[in-house]
Amino acid sequence: MSGSEIIAIVNGIINGDQRFGFLNGNSIDVLRNLPSESVNCIITSPPYWAQREYDIDVEDKEMEIGRESDHERYVQSLRDVFREAKRVLKKDGSLWLNIGDKYHNKALMGMPWRVALSLMDDGWILRNDIIWDKMKGTQSCRDRFRDVYEHFFHFVRSPKYYYDADSIRVISPRKPKKINGEIVSATGVSGKRYKRLIEESTELTEAEKTAASKALEDTLAQLMNGEIVDFRMTLRGTQRTYHSDNSKVSGRAKELENKGFFIMKMSSKGFLPSDIWRITPEDTWRKDEHYAVFPEELLQNPILATCPRDGIVLDTFSGTGSTIAAALKLGRKGIGIDLSNRYIDIAKQRVSNTSYTLPLI
Ligand SMILES: C[S@@+](CC[C@H](N)C(=O)[O-])C[C@H]1O[C@@H](n2cnc3c(N)ncnc32)[C@H](O)[C@@H]1O
Repeated sequence: MSGSEIIAIVNGIINGDQRFGFLNGNSIDVLRNLPSESVNCIITSPPYWAQREYDIDVEDKEMEIGRESDHERYVQSLRDVFREAKRVLKKDGSLWLNIGDKYHNKALMGMPWRVALSLMDDGWILRNDIIWDKMKGTQSCRDRFRDVYEHFFHFVRSPKYYYDADSIRVISPRKPKKINGEIVSATGVSGKRYKRLIEESTELTEAEKTAASKALEDTLAQLMNGEIVDFRMTLRGTQRTYHSDNSKVSGRAKELENKGFFIMKMSSKGFLPSDIWRITPEDTWRKDEHYAVFPEELLQNPILATCPRDGIVLDTFSGTGSTIAAALKLGRKGIGIDLSNRYIDIAKQRVSNTSYTLPLI
């Protein structure tokens, strides 16, 4: 694909009505034609090192990532691609990188971390290492455990970045309750015991007791008006803090030292999902088309949390176009890049069949 063709497609997405586009070519070369700071979020899964061969024309084979003769070169290739991708990413943007490991001469290579550390050395800030539990794994090995997970790294360009935490919260089924006409927390906490502990405390000064009573009253008010569903209060001297009593190590211990109490609250907006995601891969049903297809469920939280509505999601190794299809379904725009003409055709067809006129979430 020529530079002018790439620019025309990308302009139509950035400035026009186009919702998606697929760009055929070597990722790093294609990226060089994209304007700086033009996409909100990059979600991708590059080929893993020495793992598979994709359906790529013979003349393009030498550009295929994953076929490098040694792992250092593989890490360097990815570092180079993501350096160019960083230029294209907005300053408040995110990069989500799914990458699998490899056994070589019996030894587990630690490839995901080799790549992650190299990107960190290149200036990327690592925010999360999501463990994608694929809930399956090969049964063929008899001298080690089955491997069932892959890494899904979340990197950002700068410490302040776009993140819509409320869009991915898991709503707790727990609700405040009414016992003998009195509203108590989801686990039955009324605040009476804390009130007594504050009054009887020999560890708190009078000023600290006043502040603790006020904080408790405010928290109970939040429970009444539905802002929170549960809470726990800890007072200096009543129990051990969670990680450590050392205020240099634990923020909680520091609060106890400075104020004499702290309160932990569970918001009624729900809690943030953890960094272990249990999602079955889709490659069994798409084996005929491609080996390593992203399940769309895996893409949902990254898109919702790190790409604003109508923002642009880029996949630098788009394969059959799962990322772009998921982006469109969630009311975002999408750009996919792949070296294989065949995968680009499959992706275009798939995305054309994607109903992205669904009500936007
Ligand atoms: C792991 S697959 C991506 C699968 C994709 N996430 C999906 O859901 O279908 C990696 C893709 O990278 C492509 N690829 C390999 N080397 C490339 C390069 N240098 N530039 C662009 N794409 C490349 C392969 O053709 C393959 O489709």
